[in-house]
Amino acid sequence: MAKKAPKDKAGTPSIYVLNGPNLNLLGHREPEVYGRDTLADIHTAVVRHAAGHGLSIEFRQSNHEGDLIDWLQEARTKAGGVILNAAGFSHTSVAILDACRALDRPLIEVHLSNPFRRESFRRHSFVSEAATGVIC
Ligand code: DQA
Repeated sequence: MAKKAPKDKAGTPSIYVLNGPNLNLLGHREPEVYGRDTLADIHTAVVRHAAGHGLSIEFRQSNHEGDLIDWLQEARTKAGGVILNAAGFSHTSVAILDACRALDRPLIEVHLSNPFRRESFRRHSFVSEAATGVIC
């Protein structure tokens, strides 16, 4: 039987949106690859879109692998699902894969670019091995 999505104080199901290293520089970092929207712009759009579906958003960014692992562990009991852009850690981190495998919630991996059209080292993602779906 599917687990019920945990709800926030207002009784709204909560989705964790977790952003990895260098995504704090969106809008300034390689705009020809990642676009001109900042992470704050994306946060605003995600919250607005989620509200239309009756969902609340917990939106976080860190440049540190351990923070992402701690948040994935937290999401095991506090989130109905997780949307994760692990950025560069997608291609390197077995520890993030292990935390994703322990999640036991729907997990959508997101990339702003299409890593399959870029350097060969971006074509493998550890996160994909645990993800319910991938959007890039
Ligand atoms: C990224 C793709 C990764 O390869 C890269 O390291 C990033 C961003 C994306 O959103 O397209 O930092 O995850």
